[in-house]
Amino acid sequence: MTDEQPAPNPHASEAEVAAAYRDTKLAQVLYHDWEAETYDEKWHISYDERCISYARDRFEAAVGRSSGATGGSDPASGAEPYDRALELGCGTGFFLLNLMQAGIVKKGSVTDLSPGMVKVALRNGEGLGLDVDGRVADAETIPYDDDTFDLVVGHAVLHHIPDVEQSLREVLRVLKPGGRFVFAGEPTTIGDFYARWLGRITWELTTNVTRLPFLRGWRRPQAELDESSRAAALEAVVDLHTFDPDEMEALAGRAGAVGARVTTEELSAAFLGWPVRTFEATVPEGKLGWGWAGFAYGGWQKLSIVDEKVLSRIVPRRFFYNLAITGTKPE
Ligand SMILES: C[S@@+](CC[C@H](N)C(=O)[O-])C[C@H]1O[C@@H](n2cnc3c(N)ncnc32)[C@H](O)[C@@H]1O
Repeated sequence: MTDEQPAPNPHASEAEVAAAYRDTKLAQVLYHDWEAETYDEKWHISYDERCISYARDRFEAAVGRSSGATGGSDPASGAEPYDRALELGCGTGFFLLNLMQAGIVKKGSVTDLSPGMVKVALRNGEGLGLDVDGRVADAETIPYDDDTFDLVVGHAVLHHIPDVEQSLREVLRVLKPGGRFVFAGEPTTIGDFYARWLGRITWELTTNVTRLPFLRGWRRPQAELDESSRAAALEAVVDLHTFDPDEMEALAGRAGAVGARVTTEELSAAFLGWPVRTFEATVPEGKLGWGWAGFAYGGWQKLSIVDEKVLSRIVPRRFFYNLAITGTKPE
């Protein structure tokens, strides 16, 4: 490897780092192990009402629960919780732990390729008093028996998995007949394109404007900006896919799912969210305060409503940023 290549983990040995650039799964482990202890803080993840309703809303938007798209006997209808659920690529447990707190799941198993993430997810689950177990697991070869779970979920994980169809075949294998899967928070191909450009433009603009002497107080120390740039470069190593809604439905069908259905969300909200997140990464910590946090989150919420109630009726689904897919295992 050359000097320009970023290290996936500053604590990894040189040999490990060199190997990570040849082995995407090793890169995932080194990068996400490194992120694990600071991940909740970095992504504003919490286990209170804010993130509980975020997780519940993503789940319900995917399964069409509020629109009554599922039958009354399917737990997706909201009549009763799923008994046993598995999460793939759980990270710190954001999706499944909050779905459990929302009363959608009774017992959960958290899994991830990164041992550091599984450790934090189990610690979070224990701290919340939830019925959770977990293990290190590759989503392409899930280490559980056939017909084990009523529900399999994931959030922002499919785009990291080299063979997504193989992973969905594994999901269907470990689901009980009639069991459901829900994967949310995946980037669409068009959404990823504009998100990256919005991020890049915001970064260039703010890091250059804050060179002006009277704006210096708004500039993060150079070492921290360099670290953010390295992290962004690393995402290119671990982010493997973006998805087209039609192709994603076809892929799930080929893997053996029935009723595979993609929904997409966030268009105007993404046009606010990506510049806001990038801007936040360029200014010193604590500079923006609670007023800014209220503006950013409140603005994102209001635009999400516009996206759902207005834009989703007139703009084709492939233009929205966030994709979710659900389906079931044949009875
Ligand atoms: C972007 S993070 C999302 C974490 C969490 N689901 C969330 O939404 O906060 C992606 C996670 O997927 C995990 N991952 C990547 N490749 C994987 C694979 N092949 N099998 C299982 N987990 C994987 C990573 O270690 C990381 O924790």
